[in-house]
Amino acid sequence: MGMLKIGFFQFNPEFGRIRNNLEMVLGALDGVQADIIVLPELPFTGYFFKDRQELFDLAEPVDDSPTVDALLHLCRRRQLHLVTGFAEKVVDDENVDRVFNSALLIGPDNVVHTYRKLHLFNTEKGYFDPGDTLLEISVVRGVRIGMMVCFDWAFPEVARILALKGADIICHPSNLVLTHCQQAMCTRALENGVYTVTANRYGTEMRAHGELTFTGQSQITDPLGKRHSKAKPHERCLSVVEIDVSRARNNQLTAKNN
Ligand code: ACM
Repeated sequence: MGMLKIGFFQFNPEFGRIRNNLEMVLGALDGVQADIIVLPELPFTGYFFKDRQELFDLAEPVDDSPTVDALLHLCRRRQLHLVTGFAEKVVDDENVDRVFNSALLIGPDNVVHTYRKLHLFNTEKGYFDPGDTLLEISVVRGVRIGMMVCFDWAFPEVARILALKGADIICHPSNLVLTHCQQAMCTRALENGVYTVTANRYGTEMRAHGELTFTGQSQITDPLGKRHSKAKPHERCLSVVEIDVSRARNNQLTAKNN
């Protein structure tokens, strides 16, 4: 198991301006040299919806989305994998409209996996459907990737299940408004012996129904919980670090503790 370049792009999406936010991401990643880049939660639509209708009007189906098509093209051109938040619209088998706060793993050839956020935070409960997918691992270049979304951090079982299923790296698109997550993710990494990449956004969303400020400070931690990269609270930041994936496979903490 070798070296891998993993990173995050922290930025300040503008609510409802999908095309502009997409251009921002495409521009930032245009020349990137990395194997896996993680983007924040809901980086194209923005976060603080006024109601389900507004969310529904901005959400897209994964298999019929100009946003996903553009990201696939980027992944193909850069030979890159992306983990991104995505407002996912679905018409289910009974013809009922559903909308999920999802994370997509996108590679050069296809959308490899979709995870739908299990633990909806605060007002999200008013407009998103809770996730109905399992916590699964996807293999990218021999490396085992797990995904969770933002508030999933508060439930240690999520990272533990991903680790028990073999995760080497937990990719964690986020729009954090509380201040505890970055510290907690060092613990999630240590207690599970995995790398973590938390890609947060920064800035304030001012809407007629209220405003939310996000905490930035995106980070990459190693399997001992040490930060290898941390962005500032208010900055656009593309950060890539090279990791030794074998460290996530070695559970020997001391000579006598495995
Ligand atoms: C959150 O789950 N976006 C706080």
